[in-house]
Amino acid sequence: MISTDLNKAKSILQSDNLIAIPTETVYGLAGNAFSDEAINKIFELKKRPRFNPLIVHLKSSDDLHTIAQKIPEEAIKLAEAFWPGPLTLVLKKQSHISSLITAGKDTVAVRVPNHPLTLQLLNLIDFPLVAPSANPFGSISPTSAAHVFNYFKNELEIILDGGACERGIESTIVGFEDGVSQIYRLGSVSIEEIKQVIGNIEVFHSESNEIMSPGMLSRHYAPKTKTVLVDDVEKSINQFLNKRIGLLMFKNKITNTKIIAQEVLSELGDLNESAQKLYASLHRLDHLNLDIIIAEKFPDFGLGRSINDRLLRATKP
Ligand code: TXA
Ligand code: MG
Repeated sequence: MISTDLNKAKSILQSDNLIAIPTETVYGLAGNAFSDEAINKIFELKKRPRFNPLIVHLKSSDDLHTIAQKIPEEAIKLAEAFWPGPLTLVLKKQSHISSLITAGKDTVAVRVPNHPLTLQLLNLIDFPLVAPSANPFGSISPTSAAHVFNYFKNELEIILDGGACERGIESTIVGFEDGVSQIYRLGSVSIEEIKQVIGNIEVFHSESNEIMSPGMLSRHYAPKTKTVLVDDVEKSINQFLNKRIGLLMFKNKITNTKIIAQEVLSELGDLNESAQKLYASLHRLDHLNLDIIIAEKFPDFGLGRSINDRLLRATKP
């Protein structure tokens, strides 16, 4: 049921069951981080492989030391700059953190989400929440309560309704393995913003070492409809002429009678607005029984780079 009843949400969580929560990035499938029973239910409901670790959500950075230890200076600076907000830090875990959360690693991913309803909830309960995005493994992340409902129907007793997510793509994940700051997953905080706080940082690239952060798994965030990411949309339309085509455009609409549906993410060419609308547009296009979704490549800077990352993973066969 879609609801805003925080007391009911609290009692469901206290009995080791799951709810959906809004965050500023995407909706999460949340359970008590101190309950292995709840954590197991998350993996089962999402059909998520056990090697893919979860993010712990805290009410405040004051609680960070209860989850993580040996926190590097860069991590503290980033937390101060971006929390509450769409940045996840991968840190050495405290020994009591369940290895179900961390997939057996000695690091734990943690963030303070920036959504009033979820912060209120976190303040009502006396445990943090583990929450992956509230979608079946591999599919498009949800940015509204209705998206979550479409996936899980009444398997969730409560989907907390916090409206449309303000940021629209997942948190940026930063880790510090071997003393080197690295971005494990591009997301709602741009590389440029992170560089302003801690100086240079690399994006972790390794097809062979995807388990490092399985959000980097190639196919992910994917519509059921075949999707391509192209520089030249007009040219691509001509390659699929007898197909039912849908378009995902950055700012300019294309006039072509062959097109069945078209989503323009930001007429003003604003990358924040584009990120905010990205998944909702993909959800809509994916429900139209199209043969193909042609997505236009975004400018490769700021959030454009994070959007391209998601679109690229959506196109992997
Ligand atoms: O914005 C977000 O981060 C959303 C909202 C709900 O907070 N959550 C989210 O969770 O995107 P999920 O489970 O879909 O993605 C979590 C990512 C995965 O790619 C996982 O591999 C990575 O975090 N991760 C978790 N723990 C890790 C660790 N110890 N080391 C490296 N990566 C880790
Ligand atoms: Mg996810």
